[in-house]
Amino acid sequence: MCGIVGYAGGKRAVSVLLDTLSGLEYRGYDSAGVSVFDGDGIVTVKAKGRLQNLADRLKAEHPGLAGGCGIGHTRWATHGEPSDVNAHPHATEKLSLVHNGIIENYQQLRSRLLGEGYDFLSRTDTEVAAKLIDSLYHGDPIAAISEAQAILEGSYAFAILFADRPGEVYATRLGSPLIAAAGEGETFIASDVPAILPYSRRYALIGEKQIVRIDREGISLFEPDGSPAKLQMLTAEWSVEQAQKGGYDHFMLKEIYEQPRALADTVHPRISDGLPSFEAQDDIPEGFWRQFDTISIVACGTAMHAGMIGKNLIERLARIPVECDIASEFRYRDPILGKHSLVLLISQSGETADTLAALRLARERGATTLAVVNVTGSSIAREADYVIRTFAGPEIAVASTKAYSVQLSVMYLIAIRLALANRAVDDARARELTSGLLGAIETTKDVLGLNVEIKEYIKRYESLRDLFFLGRGLDYALSMEGSLKLKEISYIHCEAYAAGELKHGTISLVTEGVPVVAVATQETLLPKMVSNIKEVHSRGADVLLVCKQGLEVDPEIYSKRLDLPALDDLFMPVVGVIVLQLLAYHTAVLRGCDVDKPRNLAKSVTVE
Ligand code: F6R
Repeated sequence: MCGIVGYAGGKRAVSVLLDTLSGLEYRGYDSAGVSVFDGDGIVTVKAKGRLQNLADRLKAEHPGLAGGCGIGHTRWATHGEPSDVNAHPHATEKLSLVHNGIIENYQQLRSRLLGEGYDFLSRTDTEVAAKLIDSLYHGDPIAAISEAQAILEGSYAFAILFADRPGEVYATRLGSPLIAAAGEGETFIASDVPAILPYSRRYALIGEKQIVRIDREGISLFEPDGSPAKLQMLTAEWSVEQAQKGGYDHFMLKEIYEQPRALADTVHPRISDGLPSFEAQDDIPEGFWRQFDTISIVACGTAMHAGMIGKNLIERLARIPVECDIASEFRYRDPILGKHSLVLLISQSGETADTLAALRLARERGATTLAVVNVTGSSIAREADYVIRTFAGPEIAVASTKAYSVQLSVMYLIAIRLALANRAVDDARARELTSGLLGAIETTKDVLGLNVEIKEYIKRYESLRDLFFLGRGLDYALSMEGSLKLKEISYIHCEAYAAGELKHGTISLVTEGVPVVAVATQETLLPKMVSNIKEVHSRGADVLLVCKQGLEVDPEIYSKRLDLPALDDLFMPVVGVIVLQLLAYHTAVLRGCDVDKPRNLAKSVTVE
């Protein structure tokens, strides 16, 4: 949530800041702002709403803003509603500051600063941080930041301009991500790597409470006490093309189409001699998988839905009990964990605050933590005992698609490896399962071919208000994801129900014409599922059947059938999810929604 950038170099800072902020807009888009050194002072411009509003204001009101050093921000509102005044940067006479995170003791600090004679214009915790650093600044930026760190509680990544230090940007972090990057005669600060890819692929991760200074000459890193720190430059593995739309109308559609590649990239390096292995790629020895009595899968949103499938697969194949929790609930139910517990954290961004907090709790309680993350160097990747990186590439659309699919593929690999290690399956069966997974990945390309048919069918959803998804077993977990995807980007109210559960109350909502998406890919559960479809059909539901090719279902009970490749039941979610993603995508486009940036959301949720 919230994206911050900083620039020092020979180009017009405003242009670079707007450009890099556009790469971070997925982190929040309630307001945006920049501060730039210009002549003798700092000029700050901000605007409520999308980045384009800021660009328009800059063009209209500050066409000549030419300085080469500045900071920028794109906001997801936490303290204080989205407005011009609550937008960042927050400036004082001495400095201007942008912030990603939450200052928890801001009320106490605000009272203290009011007592010292400071006034407040906004309702934000960030203005408190700006004024605190202002009060501590006596000509030494590092000392002031360091002193502020000892007082501030919560999470932050700050980028700061000090009025008497033209050409320099200072930044620091605790709990929120921050990188510094170097190009030719120019340097950058950003919340994440894709933002700076058009300029440079050389970057450094900033450690907790480290302080970084950038200017045209380069990057200087300091420890929290102000002593020099060693800067370790890395090379980004993601290319600039991967972070652009590449001819698609939306990032979401591009990312849906990238799934066959992302799945292959994630799975193939982890197959050795026909079996899943995490030894070479992830440094996880085969013996690792034999140590656990119980497994907890913990994640949020879409990642949690991948975990629901993981639970089903692991219990089914490896016969180890698995709990799957929403991260924000996990911590508060006082989970029973010990040295034979494995806690599996799933996160695309690797920065989700609730998942990170769950990881820390699991470690405190002596469990082994294994993170499945897409972003290298993210907080969760850094703090977990073991890490399995997914290779989806940058996911820019706020609604997760390819990240879910690769998380799912890792759940299959883990389930098969656990099953083998704990002798729940023999070698031959494990090989059969592995080749089943590879086959499923191959057929994802065919499912993308349903795109036009789906687009045509969903025309009836243009003015829809409510919809139900129904499924059993793996299809129920899949329906949860289909439902989340549809509601978050098309704003249609929908619910996913375990098909057998509907008649215990919710069926009273099913009346003439209510649309139901019946996910019926599980051959073994088909007779029961068909009965449930009949229950809604006979009450007037308009049923879209998502089914496995070849399964017999009476055509009287649905208005449209979409056929998926006939794979083993176990692998149907790999192909099924693509249909549900396309359904959500086309419905949102039809309804004129902002597909890549749905209202009120942010890609990376770094607050609890
Ligand atoms: C929905 C979506 C979210 C995320 C959730 C966790 O499309 O993207 O539900 O899955 O916020 O995010 P990560 O995976 O970054 O921890």
